[in-house]
Amino acid sequence: MLSQNHLHVSLLYIVLLTGTKYGCGGGGCGACTVMVSKYDQLNNRVLHYTVNACLQPICTLHGAAVVTVEGIGSTKTKLHPVQERIAKAHGSQCGFCTPGMVMSMYTLLRNKPHPTMEDIREALGGNLCRCTGYRPIIDGFKTFCDVRVVEMMTPGKNDCVLNKYLIPCQISEELFHMDNVLPLDPSQDLIFPPELMKRACGSLCFQGDRLKLISPVDLTNLLELKTEYPEAPVVVGNTTIGINLLLCHLAFSIILSPSTPGEFQIYILMGAVCTLSSLKEEMERAVREMEAERTRGYQALLQTLRCLAGKQIRNMAVSPITITHRYRLMPRFITVLRPDEVLLSIDIPYSKPWEFVSAFRQAQRREFAFSIVNAGMKVLFREGTNIVESLNIYYGGVGPTLVKVGRTCQKLVGRSWGEELLADACRLLEEEVELSDSAHGGKVEYRKTLTTSFFFKFYMQVLQELRERVHIQDSALKPFKNEVPQGHHSFQLVSNAQSSQDPVGHPMMHQAAFHQATGEAQYYDDIPAVQGELFVYMVTSTRAHAKIINIDPSEALGMTGVVTFLSAGDVPGQNRRMLFNNPEELFAEEEVSCVGQIIGAVVAESREQARRAAQMVKVTYQDLLPVFFTIEEAIQHQSFFDPKRKLERGDMDKAFETVDQILEDEIYLGGQEHFYMETQGLIAVPKGENGELELFVASQHSAYTQEVVGITLGIDSNKITCHVRRLGGAFGGKVMKIASLSAITATAAVKTGRPVRCVLERGDDMLITSGRHPFLGKYKVGYNNDGTIMAADITYYSNGGCTLNESLAIMEKALLHMDNGYKIPNLRGRGLVCKTYLPSYTAFRGFGGPQGLMVMESVLHEVAVKCGLPPQKVREINMYREEECYTHYKQLFSPRDMLRCWDECLDKAGYHDRLQAIQQFNTSNRWKKRGISAVPMKFGVGFSKGFFNQGAALVNIYKDGSVLVAHGGTEMGQGINTKALQIASHILKVPMSSIHIKETCTGNVPNAAPSAASFGTDAVGMAVKVFQRSLASDLFVLSRQLPWTMTIGIFEAYCQKVSLSATGFFMGPHTDMDWENSEGPAYYYFTFGACCSEVEIDCLTGDHKNLRTDIVMDVGRSLNPAIDIGQIEGGFVQGIGLYTIEELQFSLEGVLMTRGPSQYKIPALCDVPPQFNVHLLANAQNPHAIYRSKGIGEPPVFLASTIFFAIKEAVAAARRERGLGDSFPLSSPATAERIRMACEDQFTEMAPSPEKGTFKPWSINI
Ligand SMILES: Cc1cc2nc3c(=O)[nH]c(=O)nc-3n(C[C@H](O)[C@H](O)[C@H](O)COP(=O)(O)OP(=O)(O)OC[C@H]3O[C@@H](n4cnc5c(N)ncnc54)[C@H](O)[C@@H]3O)c2cc1C
Ligand code: FES
Ligand code: FES
Repeated sequence: MLSQNHLHVSLLYIVLLTGTKYGCGGGGCGACTVMVSKYDQLNNRVLHYTVNACLQPICTLHGAAVVTVEGIGSTKTKLHPVQERIAKAHGSQCGFCTPGMVMSMYTLLRNKPHPTMEDIREALGGNLCRCTGYRPIIDGFKTFCDVRVVEMMTPGKNDCVLNKYLIPCQISEELFHMDNVLPLDPSQDLIFPPELMKRACGSLCFQGDRLKLISPVDLTNLLELKTEYPEAPVVVGNTTIGINLLLCHLAFSIILSPSTPGEFQIYILMGAVCTLSSLKEEMERAVREMEAERTRGYQALLQTLRCLAGKQIRNMAVSPITITHRYRLMPRFITVLRPDEVLLSIDIPYSKPWEFVSAFRQAQRREFAFSIVNAGMKVLFREGTNIVESLNIYYGGVGPTLVKVGRTCQKLVGRSWGEELLADACRLLEEEVELSDSAHGGKVEYRKTLTTSFFFKFYMQVLQELRERVHIQDSALKPFKNEVPQGHHSFQLVSNAQSSQDPVGHPMMHQAAFHQATGEAQYYDDIPAVQGELFVYMVTSTRAHAKIINIDPSEALGMTGVVTFLSAGDVPGQNRRMLFNNPEELFAEEEVSCVGQIIGAVVAESREQARRAAQMVKVTYQDLLPVFFTIEEAIQHQSFFDPKRKLERGDMDKAFETVDQILEDEIYLGGQEHFYMETQGLIAVPKGENGELELFVASQHSAYTQEVVGITLGIDSNKITCHVRRLGGAFGGKVMKIASLSAITATAAVKTGRPVRCVLERGDDMLITSGRHPFLGKYKVGYNNDGTIMAADITYYSNGGCTLNESLAIMEKALLHMDNGYKIPNLRGRGLVCKTYLPSYTAFRGFGGPQGLMVMESVLHEVAVKCGLPPQKVREINMYREEECYTHYKQLFSPRDMLRCWDECLDKAGYHDRLQAIQQFNTSNRWKKRGISAVPMKFGVGFSKGFFNQGAALVNIYKDGSVLVAHGGTEMGQGINTKALQIASHILKVPMSSIHIKETCTGNVPNAAPSAASFGTDAVGMAVKVFQRSLASDLFVLSRQLPWTMTIGIFEAYCQKVSLSATGFFMGPHTDMDWENSEGPAYYYFTFGACCSEVEIDCLTGDHKNLRTDIVMDVGRSLNPAIDIGQIEGGFVQGIGLYTIEELQFSLEGVLMTRGPSQYKIPALCDVPPQFNVHLLANAQNPHAIYRSKGIGEPPVFLASTIFFAIKEAVAAARRERGLGDSFPLSSPATAERIRMACEDQFTEMAPSPEKGTFKPWSINI
C-alpha cells in the first residue's frame, strides 16, 4: 500500500538520494532531471530519455530503469566525464541546478555520443540556472562536440600595454584547460538491466490510501475501465494532470495510465501514447526526407514543438492537443471528448500542393514558456492562382479554449491574396476575435494586436511563396534563431615572481564543484530525517488588510498525522523579529496587512499531511480599509515609512534658471523574485538539555537567525547553534525572512520536543518571502543643448510592502548610486519608501543600486534623445573625469579605472562600426530593428552602515598538518570558500587540498555580518589574512629554525607549545552617512565596469533577441578570475531577467499570481547573448581590499540595463520610420508586450486602450 504522495511525486521523494533536487515541483526548472530507460519491444531497443522526477509517478515506471546523478559517477569512485567537465569549466556555482544539468547532458550522450551544439542547446532547454548565466555550463559540455568550437578555451597569452598609466602585463584567455580530463567512454555506462527486457506485461493496479492507479494491458481493457470509471482521467505524460494534483491540489480517486508497452501501443500509433519528443523526431525525419511542399504543416508544427516546454516535458507529454489550446495562467484542460471516450490517434496530414501552413507563438520567454497567444493558419489556393479556396485560422490565448475564426475565413474565400484582402482580414479579425478588456490573463491590447500581427506575418509568408512580389519585406518572416552562448574572456596573469604553488590570482575551480556535480553536496533538505522528525507548513493570510476575527484549526487538528497547530499565543518569547528597531510579527496576531502573511503553522508527521491540514485551517477575517498596493496609490494616500531620505549637492533652483532646457519625466521599474533554485527552509533539532537547539538552515545571515530564534524562544543565543553548509543560491533573499521561518520552526520544535523540518514549496516561497522592490523615479532635469546636464532632481519611490524591513537601507543605496559615473554639479535625490498592503520587499543582489542607477541612466538617455545626440556621447560628456572626484555625498574617488573600462569596452565591442551597421540594418528591415547601448558603472562596495564591515575567521591546524578554516561568510555559490582556501593556502604555504572548510557555524565564528553587499570575500579574506599576524608568524619563526614540512613542523610547534588555533578579526573601514548634511564616506571603495549590448526586436510580436554583450570589469587584482567572471556573467543574466522578462503579476486583491516557473520566467539558455564577452581590466589596483582585489557579487546586475536601452533604441528606430517621436515611455521590464505596444503601427491602432474605469484589469503594476 502506497500513500497518495508515493503514487505521485514519488520519483523525486522516493529516491532518497541527495542528487535529485526539488526546485519547483512542477516540471518548470529541471533540477530534478533523471534518466529513464525503457525497453521498446516493437523496435527491440532500449530508449533513454530525461524526465522531471517531480512529475513522474513512480507507478508508471514499472519495468523501467531510472538513473540518477549518483548512478553515473562519484567522487569516491570515479567521476563521469560530464560531471568532471561541468565542474572544471566553472559551470557549477551554488550547485543546486548542477545534477539536473549533468543528467540532461548525460542522457544526450547516451543517445548521441557525438552531439552537435544544437543538440546540447535542446537538451538543456528545460534546465534553469540562476547563478552562472549558462555560458560556463555550455563551455564544459561543448567539449563533447565533434566540431570543437573551443577557440576561446585555447590557451592564449598576449602582452598588453593598455595605456599610459600601465605597466606591461600578460593576459590569459584560458579559464580552464582540457589536459587530463576523462575521455568519454560509452562502454563504461550502466547497462540496461536485462531482466527488465523479459518482463511480461499485464494489467497493473497500484492502490494508495487515497488514490488507485490502474495501468490497462490493452485498448479493450482501457475502454472497459473507461466505461466503468468515466471520470477517471487517462494519464500518460502526467504533465497536466500531475500539475493539477501537485500544485492545484485537485484530487482524483482513480487514474488510468496506459503507458505500459504492449498491444495498446500498436493500436494507438502516433498521438495517444507517442511522446511529443518522438512526434518531433518523426516530423523532423519527414521534413528531411520528403519534398518541402508536402511537409509545410509539419514544419509549422515543428516550429511550435521546439519551443514547447523543455526536453524533459516533451519526453513525458503525449497530448499534442494542448499545443494549440493551452493558455498560460489558465491550467484548465478543456477537451471535446466525452468522459467514456479516449483519444486513439491524431492524423496530421501532408500538405497539398497549393496549401500553405504556418504556426505562430509569442511567449514571455522564447523557449520553455507557455504562449501568450499562439496561432495556426492554413490557406489553400485554387490551383495555379492566388484565389483563396479555403482558409483556416485558429488562435490560442484569446479565449478559454481554442478559437476558430470561422466568419473571417469564410468571408475571405474566393478573394485574391493581396493588400485588400489583408486590410479586410485585419478588420474582420478585429471584429471576430472577442476579448473582453477584463479578460483573464490581462495584456488585452497586446493579445488583440498579436492576432492581427500574426495574420500579417502569415500573409507575408504566403505572399513570398506565391512569389507575387519582387521586393518582399522578409524581415517580418524570419523567426529568431536560438543559439548557444559563446564568449571570449581575458584576465591578467599573476606575475612571474609569484610562486607556482600559490593559488591566489589563478582561475581555480569552485572548491565543492565535484561534490555538486555528483549530487553528493548536501543542502539543508538533503540532511536525512532525524528520528521523530515532524514537518511544519505555514498558514498564510488570504486577505490584504483585515482584522483576524477567529482562527479555527480544529478540522486540521483532527486529520491523520497532525500533531499540533501554532499561532502567536504559542510563542514562548517575543512574537516578533527586529531589524534596526523595526519590529515585524512572526505570526499575525490581530491584523493582517498582506496576502501571504503568516498567521499560523501546522505541524504533522509528513510534508503531505502538514500541507493538506494547513488548507483546512479556517481563518475568519473582517476586511479593513484602506487597502492599496501600488506606488501611485501610496502617493495618493501619502503612505510612506519614516524616515524619508534626501541627498543634495549644488544649488538646484539657480541651476534650473540658467539651463537651456528642462525635461520632466518618470520611469517605472518592476520588482523581481529571487528565484534561488533552492527554496527557503531549515531543520530545527531540540537537544533536550538546557534548552539547546541546533538549526540546519538556509540562511545568509546565521547570526541574525540565531538572535531572532533566541528572542522568540526567550533563551540566550549561546544555546542556539546555526549550521549553514551551503545555500542553493540566495541573492539577498535569505537574510531576513528565513529568520522568521526559523523562529517559527524552532517554536514548533520546542513545543513538540521533536525535530521539525520546514521546506517552503516554490509557490509559498514566492508568496511569503517577496523580492526586489519596484521603483518609480520621477525626475526634473536641466541640460544644455550640447547634452551637458547641469541639474537633476530625482524623487525615488519604492514599494516597500507592509513593513519597513530593509527598505530604508535599500532606498539609501539607490540614492547613493544615483550619480553613477556622472558629474552633475547640481543633483538632488529624495527617497520615499511607500507603505502598501503587499508582502514586505527585501534585499536583492544590488540592494537598490540597480534601481537607483537605472533612473539616472534613463535621464541620460532621454536627454540624448531630446538633444538629438547619440546617448553614448551624452554619457561621455557628463562623466567624472578628473583624477580626484567627489561623489554627490562628498566621497573622494578616482574615476580612472571606470574611464578605462569604458574606453576598452567600446573598443572591444567595436561600438562605432556596429552602430553604423545597425543603422544600415534598420534602414533595410521594416519589421525587425536593432539597437545598441553602452553604460559605464561605478558601484559602492561594503555596507554603508559601518559596523557591518567586519569579518572573522578561525583557523585550526591539526597535528597531522591539516588545516580547518571556519569563517563567518556563507557559501551560496559566489565562491567565498574557494577564495578563502586560496588565501589560507597562500598564507600558510600549504596546498589547498590540505585545508578544509566545513560549514558556517555560529558556534565557531560568532556575530558574523551577513554575506552581502559584495563584501563577503573582503571580510573573510582579510580575516584569514589577519590571522597571519598571530599564528602564522609563530610558525614562520619556527620554520626558519627547522627543516620544514608542514607535518614535521606542526608537530614540532605542538611540542613547543605553540597554539595551533587562532582567530583573525578584520575591523573593516569606517563608513557612515550623515544624511542631514549629505555627506559621508558611504563605501569602502568602488567597483567599476562598462558594458555594451546589442539587441534585435521583432516589431510585430515584441519578441527580442540579445545579440551580443561585451563587458569590461574592474575587479582590482582578481583573486580568482574564473569565479569573478562567473559572478559577472551570472549577475548580468539575472539583470537581463530584471530589465526584460521577469514580470510579477498581482491581482486587484493584492494576490501574487505568478507563483512558479510556469508563470514567472527567469532567463533560460535562449536569453543569453550568443556572443557574450567578459574581460577583466588589466593592471587594476585596489589598495583597500584583500590582495588588491575588489568585490564583485552585486555590481554586474545593473550592466544588463544596456539590453533595456538597446531595446529602447530599436523601438525608437521603428517609431521614427512611422514618423512617431522617439521619446516614448517604456517601463522596466521591457517585456514582449511593452516592446510591441511601443512599436505603434496599424495593428496596435486596431487595439486601442480601453478607458480607465470601464473595465476590471486582470492585474496591476504595483
Ligand atoms: C513545465 C511545463 C511546461 C509546459 N509548456 C507548455 C507549452 O509551452 N505549451 C503547451 O501547449 N503546453 C505546455 N505544457 C503543457 C504540456 O504540454 C501538456 O501538459 C502536455 O501536452 C500534456 O500531455 P500529457 O501526456 O503529459 O498529459 P496528461 O497530464 O497525461 O493528460 C492531460 C489530459 O489529457 C487527457 N488524456 C491524455 N491522453 C488521453 C487519451 N488518449 N484519451 C483521452 N484523454 C487523454 C488526460 O485525462 C488529461 O485530462 C507544459 C507543461 C509543463 C509541466
Ligand atoms: S523540481 Fe522538478 S522540474 Fe523543478
Ligand atoms: S549553479 Fe545553477 S542554480 Fe546555482
